[in-house]
Amino acid sequence: MAKDATFRAYTPYSNFHVGAALLLENGEVVTGANQENASFPAGTCAERSAIFYAASRYPGVRFVRLAITAWQKGDFVEEPTAPCGVCRQAILEYEKLGKQPIEILLCGRHKVYRINGIRALLPLSFEEF
Ligand code: THU
Repeated sequence: MAKDATFRAYTPYSNFHVGAALLLENGEVVTGANQENASFPAGTCAERSAIFYAASRYPGVRFVRLAITAWQKGDFVEEPTAPCGVCRQAILEYEKLGKQPIEILLCGRHKVYRINGIRALLPLSFEEF
């Protein structure tokens, strides 16, 4: 589903299509794709598209697993796609709310990195609560 979501990205500036698929504890899967904007900072990543939609549509429902992948120049990218720093911090917020690790799948064309919890990708994270 993350692969499928890459084709719903809007990327006229980078041509880098990222897709995310988020499994929720209620069994729903919410997908997201990056959406760019002429005012560059107004655009957003696939991961945040997915998690913010999920939290808006299903408030209070835990996130179980997040898959991320990217497509560029006619194929899925070779190396597993990792979330940017801002997305890592955004994912951490929901991991804390859910009180359990969110499994993160970084998907490349031929390999997948399976990460047990966003904290492994965000050492010394900012935490206010
Ligand atoms: N992008 C994502 O969607 N997720 C990431 O974690 C990294 C970057 C997007 C932002 C921009 O639209 C494009 O990839 C190139 O940077």
